[in-house]
Amino acid sequence: PLVSMRELLDHAAENGYGIPAFNVNNLEQVQAVMEAAKETGAPVILQASAGARKYAGESFIKHLIQAAVEAYPTIPLVMHQDHGQSPDVCRGAVDLGFTSVMMDGSLEADGKTIASYDYNVEVTRKVVDMAHPMGITVEGELGCLGSLETMRGDKEDGHGTDATMTREQLLTDPEQAADFIARTQVDALAIAIGTSHGAYKFSRKPTGDILAIGRIKEIHRRIPNTHLVMHGSSSVPQELLAIIRQHGGQMKETYGVPVEEIQEAIKHGVRKINIDTDIRLAMTGAVRKFLAENPEKFDMREWMKPAREAARLVCKQRYLEFGCEGQA
Ligand code: G3H
Ligand code: 13P
Ligand code: ZN
Repeated sequence: PLVSMRELLDHAAENGYGIPAFNVNNLEQVQAVMEAAKETGAPVILQASAGARKYAGESFIKHLIQAAVEAYPTIPLVMHQDHGQSPDVCRGAVDLGFTSVMMDGSLEADGKTIASYDYNVEVTRKVVDMAHPMGITVEGELGCLGSLETMRGDKEDGHGTDATMTREQLLTDPEQAADFIARTQVDALAIAIGTSHGAYKFSRKPTGDILAIGRIKEIHRRIPNTHLVMHGSSSVPQELLAIIRQHGGQMKETYGVPVEEIQEAIKHGVRKINIDTDIRLAMTGAVRKFLAENPEKFDMREWMKPAREAARLVCKQRYLEFGCEGQA
């Protein structure tokens, strides 16, 4: 059944695990997540970005997710709006039947300019006032998302900042987080702890402390009843990059967030872990490989199938690694 995200995250907190929130845009991605959840007995968070709603179309995204509820009636499922850029976008999601929304007020409505703290509080509070009476969960975001490396001039997620800022200044401030929670009453908070969106997170192999674990602990101590959310949590598996490269793809050397670091973060209050890129890499690699090996094939179902299968495997792995097995 469709449930609120608060319900799922509360259960995850009580039982000490984390839930991967997978971005979906089309049928095969929804099927991959659901099959992985069924196999592992995991609860599901399906999230759609504004880009996903645009790509699939409002009705399709709504009914794709509702089809998942219908086809897997026993699995608790959250339909979440990822990175709502304004209260209007969040309202649109609620009208479509989403049970959870993210109001990302860390950026202004253009999705690029870093917003003031007061702006963030104001728009987020507005969404909470609209959503909570309807039993809908709200996620906010505080801080400047991005690794120090990518923050310095990153174009991809529009979070490029002043090169003179230090990592410490860019991470979410625990005191400000406490004030933000008091003023907005959000259920979950996306924090800046060293991750960034997309495939190009780190240009060198991580040697241990990629995430600001100390900062996560401080934030969790300050706001123990708020579920922490980690965006940009793809691990960018080297084996998936290799498949892409072996079959004509061109991807530069890059590294993601090691799963062990995410597991450590889960011990300190991180409950929702956003993953999009790993699914993209898995599906792209599978399609490239299949078509390279079967140049005469043209039935779209034949190449979509290995892509869906590759996505399923990534999702299954994350459910197991984050402790979701049997939690649904
Ligand atoms: O936060 C970004 C997610 O990976 C969604 O990406 O906006 O391209 O759909 P998108
Ligand atoms: P990745 O790009 O690391 O998969 O992060 C996705 C995300 O944070 C969606 O909100
Ligand atoms: Zn994100």
